[in-house]
Amino acid sequence: MNYNKKTVTDIDVAGKKVLLRCDFNVPMAKDGSGVITDDKRIRAALPTIQYLLEQGAAVIACSHMGKPKGEWKPELSMKPVAKRLSELLGQEVIMAADIVGEDAKAKAAALQPGQILLLENLRYDKGETKNDPAFAKALADLAGADGVYVSDAFGTVHRAHASTAGVAAYLPAVSGFLIQKELDIIGGALADPKRPLVAILGGSKVSSKIGVINNLLEIADTVIIGGGMAYTFAAAQGGKVGDSLLEADWEQYALDMIKKAEEKGVKLLLPTDTVCANAFAPDAESKVVPTGEIPDGWQGLDIGPKTVEAYCAAVADAGTVIWNGPMGVFEFDKFAVGTKAVAEALSKTDAITIIGGGDSAAAVQQLGYADKMTHISTGGGASLEFMEGKELPGVAALLDK
Ligand code: 3PG
Repeated sequence: MNYNKKTVTDIDVAGKKVLLRCDFNVPMAKDGSGVITDDKRIRAALPTIQYLLEQGAAVIACSHMGKPKGEWKPELSMKPVAKRLSELLGQEVIMAADIVGEDAKAKAAALQPGQILLLENLRYDKGETKNDPAFAKALADLAGADGVYVSDAFGTVHRAHASTAGVAAYLPAVSGFLIQKELDIIGGALADPKRPLVAILGGSKVSSKIGVINNLLEIADTVIIGGGMAYTFAAAQGGKVGDSLLEADWEQYALDMIKKAEEKGVKLLLPTDTVCANAFAPDAESKVVPTGEIPDGWQGLDIGPKTVEAYCAAVADAGTVIWNGPMGVFEFDKFAVGTKAVAEALSKTDAITIIGGGDSAAAVQQLGYADKMTHISTGGGASLEFMEGKELPGVAALLDK
């Protein structure tokens, strides 16, 4: 796949209307108060927005929030994003009452250079996720005949939706600075990494990481496995995993990956010891046992101290580290030790450190190591699919350089 795409600096936007796709799918407080609990994705879009406004473009920003599936769910309105964005920009963000309806059309038509409008949640219209050409055209029409489409929604580039892919059929399409940065850093680490390249893969299920394990075994020098999925590897090798999370259907796959690592000369590090617990609970009784000797009635919830030591040593000697997925049940303090230790090791290494979005990004942030990392991706699913080596429709749709 070609990642060398035109960006905002390759196209003249002065005096034009720019349809800007962002990923403003931000976490909101569960109490319905409309409070955004993490505005990282809004901040990440600021460089592109500021650049466009300074260049004299009129910006029509749009995003999805959650999965309303065509229903007009008020709790998934973009209004709180307009408020936060306006605070961060220090200027008014005009809010449209709809997406491609009368209000959005009128406000887009009246929009002046240097002004910004935000459309309502794109997924309030079923045409968005269906990549309906009529909906894509209606979005493009808001920018008018000499309009431009800029995509900065890295978190959504793995979706072939109307606003991420379809719209590029109607407007010249380029990337913003955020997509460019994500492509440069993650793409660079996958294509031409500073070696040794160490990939740390965690999370609960082997089945959700198949593509990424397989692809990184082609590229990395060391692949480290942690989290719940390690027990499927342990069981596949004849170990006892007690009541740990197990995907029996994936045991053969785990064995295939162990074989592949041997054939490719890739070091595959699996946990040698485990912190197991007598219940899935924050205050459960716990003990350290060799992985593969977990007693019945006990379940593995974190990597053990010897494993922590081995994983941290691999990170210390790395040229590049890519991390996706926690090492244990890090939402329980008692079982967050492995994840914390890995985050700390990453904060201390001289290696290029790239954190895939989702849980590992949240862990690094919670622990206060965010500014010690080279790059924390704004994409969860998107960064995973990127690391799987899949084509990203939202990138493929953009003009080549
Ligand atoms: C994300 O949060 O990963 C992106 O915004 C994509 O959201 P989606 O998984 O609902 O498509």
